[in-house]
Amino acid sequence: MRKVVLVTGASSGIGLALCKRLLANNDELHLCLACRNMGKAEAVRADLLAAQPTAEVSIVQVDVSSLQSVFRAARELKQRFQRLDYVYLNAGIMPNPQLNIKALLSCLFSRKVIHVFSTAEGLLTQQNRITADGLQEVFETNVFGHFILFRELEPLMFHSDHPSQLIWTSSRNAKESNFSLEDYQHSNGQEPYSSSKYATDLLSLALNRKFNQQGLYSSVVCPGTVLTNLTYGILPPFIWTLLLPVIWLLRFFANAFTLTPYNGAEALVWLFHQKPESLDPLTKYMSATTGLGHNYIVPQKMDIDENTAEKFYQSLLELERHMRTTDQKSDNQS
Ligand SMILES: NC(=O)c1ccc[n+]([C@@H]2O[C@H](COP(=O)([O-])OP(=O)(O)OC[C@H]3O[C@@H](n4cnc5c(N)ncnc54)[C@H](OP(=O)(O)O)[C@@H]3O)[C@@H](O)[C@H]2O)c1
Repeated sequence: MRKVVLVTGASSGIGLALCKRLLANNDELHLCLACRNMGKAEAVRADLLAAQPTAEVSIVQVDVSSLQSVFRAARELKQRFQRLDYVYLNAGIMPNPQLNIKALLSCLFSRKVIHVFSTAEGLLTQQNRITADGLQEVFETNVFGHFILFRELEPLMFHSDHPSQLIWTSSRNAKESNFSLEDYQHSNGQEPYSSSKYATDLLSLALNRKFNQQGLYSSVVCPGTVLTNLTYGILPPFIWTLLLPVIWLLRFFANAFTLTPYNGAEALVWLFHQKPESLDPLTKYMSATTGLGHNYIVPQKMDIDENTAEKFYQSLLELERHMRTTDQKSDNQS
């Protein structure tokens, strides 16, 4: 039976590179592209099939920043599939990023310069907005929409014969100091992206504690710094091109500058081939590239606390109940 792989954010960047790499090594998969833009998704599907004509590639439309869209997509997936073997929760946004020039200049002359350049720690702020569901957009897109998608698809992911994997695209930019249980949507801060990625790390740990015994395993990865639409939102492509010689030089000192989506997808592809039982739920798997362009994986212990992870998971369940009740009330009124 073909393994079924669902990938959110498959229309560009790291998600697209992941799909190409998975199919290049295994055309016995059924790859389902979960994308918000059907035009882009159709074009990607045609490209993938041109390269691997015997593969099975389908599309499901989903906007993870809309619960209505997530519920509809999940219903469709439950009708189409009896099982899902791998779910890559990869779609993500960093809206209106602003570079903190003062922090940039001061880090240039500090000993933390390589660390700061590898993680963008403290360098970026973003402008969040409220979605139609009344939630913070970065939180809903990067965390909550994906959480609800998983909750809806849970029954397809528990199978007795083979474990299933949930793989979140997190980031080295996830930072505890940007996350707070009291404000987990990050309504009051200026680094919602970092907060959302820390939230995925917490959630992944909590899901492992809940579901490993039922054969479901969750992991988090960081693709490194990759030139994609997301990073082109921070600096325009021509500035990145000007910076490339410096970045290539930096690669000899820091392994996080993976740069191409192909390299960035390394950890996501690597996880596909692992026995999930052997993975450490407290480790983030990082894509890394050497100065000479060789890709490898760096496992990094995460600085997260089991209690906080459990409390956050409970908060998300509570928010889920609240959103479902609100949804039902508005259905009844209309
Ligand atoms: N690039 C980096 O350096 C870097 C570093 C660390 C982590 N990451 C993470 O890697 C993941 C992929 O990002 P990328 O760098 O490949 O950027 P990208 O090229 O902008 O890809 C983002 C993907 O997410 C999709 N997406 C965004 N909002 C969505 C929504 N509401 N519903 C459904 N799909 C949505 C996009 O769809 P459209 O094509 O329709 O826009 C696109 O397919 C993200 O989670 C990002 O946070 C990236």
